[in-house]
Amino acid sequence: MLSSKPKHCTSTQLEVIDDLHREEIEILNDFMRVLPNSDDDQIDEWLQRLEGQVLHHFNEEEACMKRVMCPGFKRHVDAHSETLKAIREARKNWDEERDLMQLWNFLEYDYMAWFEHHVRDYDLPAAEFIRQYEEGQ
Ligand SMILES: [Fe+2]
Repeated sequence: MLSSKPKHCTSTQLEVIDDLHREEIEILNDFMRVLPNSDDDQIDEWLQRLEGQVLHHFNEEEACMKRVMCPGFKRHVDAHSETLKAIREARKNWDEERDLMQLWNFLEYDYMAWFEHHVRDYDLPAAEFIRQYEEGQ
């Protein structure tokens, strides 16, 4: 039985970014909850939904950083691109192999580990910079 504990996300103290993270974690939690009992078509739809949200999340976050000329912008965008690549790769593997365990492992471990590290190493400093910039306006 594939069981997954609901995931949470550290606050960046910046509402716009926290909202994006919350939406994504919500989709991920819902997906993980229904995953063991979903058919292939439903999983395809969930993966599409998740990828769409990830893309939206990255685009919005990058727009916020760009607006204030946030330091480390390029490095941050590169980290997003790498992750998007990993998600597309996982989706491709799922399309080709229909390996539920592999997909579950990717979402439960790889993606969540990325998320936690990324928030800590990239989003927290970016959010801090944006907040200080806005306070100075
Ligand atoms: Fe980010």
